[in-house]
Amino acid sequence: MAKDPWHYPRTALADQYLKTLGIGLGKSLVLFAQRRMGKTEFLRKDLLPAAEKAGYITIYVSLWESREDPKSVLLDAIRKAAEGEGIIPGIWRRLGRPGSKGVRANAGAISAQASWERGTAEASDRMLDLRQWMNTLAQKKNPTLLLVDEIQMLADEKRYGALVAALRSALDKHGDQIKAVFTGSSSEGLRQMFQKEKAPFFQFSHQIPFPQLGPEFVQHMLRAFANATQRQLNEAEAWQAFTDLALVPEHFRLMMANMVQLGSTDIATALEEVKMAIQESAEYPS
Ligand SMILES: Nc1ncnc2c1ncn2[C@@H]1O[C@H](COP(=O)(O)OP(=O)(O)OP(=O)(O)O)[C@@H](O)[C@H]1O
Ligand SMILES: [Mg+2]
Repeated sequence: MAKDPWHYPRTALADQYLKTLGIGLGKSLVLFAQRRMGKTEFLRKDLLPAAEKAGYITIYVSLWESREDPKSVLLDAIRKAAEGEGIIPGIWRRLGRPGSKGVRANAGAISAQASWERGTAEASDRMLDLRQWMNTLAQKKNPTLLLVDEIQMLADEKRYGALVAALRSALDKHGDQIKAVFTGSSSEGLRQMFQKEKAPFFQFSHQIPFPQLGPEFVQHMLRAFANATQRQLNEAEAWQAFTDLALVPEHFRLMMANMVQLGSTDIATALEEVKMAIQESAEYPS
């Protein structure tokens, strides 16, 4: 994948989080921030690559995109990682690495040869599967980092309570080998998952505010702008615009895109247009 020249790398922040997890201060971290502040971009473009470089097996799941069935998506991702290289690769090669449906169809044949796939007899009881996959992951040479974006999709206690409890107890048990980072946008559901004393993740997850972007972000964007257009923008004015836009990176990028498109260097005008667009989309939410 080509690198996005507009992405401002947050390498130090990623290293800091990995260090916190590595030291064992928390088995899991929860990043809280308002919407559009860059949580997903950070997980995918900074934390994930940094973790891979540090030797982690990484699992990324966005539960927002799979809101119809967040449970299956989460379990599938964990299963895939558990079945990854190192585990009877020969069998997988012969089966041509089937996808999730294929795995179920071939499950009988596999479990006859491999005792680790124990959950097949109770296909309905996927919590047992989860425990097994987490055991498998914990036995690997490399540690695992599970990144779950928009964890608040699992806040529905009735529907997902068992899954959340099973996940928590597996992370509890294998905390040395399996770390987790959760993100969520501030919402009642999220608070219920993490801040109520009886909540499964209470006192188990280390809650940290996700820092806002600062002047270096703006400088990076101005450099990308100069590279793309051979034109310079006024840095003080650009910073002022970013604060006007409440330090929301998405809005700032919209403003930059507007200027690239129009071949303009007029920050004041672009800022007004972006503010208008924001207001309109707030009035007519899609
Ligand atoms: N480090 C960055 N460098 C450049 N642009 C960024 C960066 N972080 C965020 N952005 C811009 O902001 C947009 C929103 O970021 P992102 O989707 O990561 O926010 P989010 O916090 O996950 O929002 P939500 O809560 O709605 O999921 C991105 O699509 C991108 O345009
Ligand atoms: Mg996001």
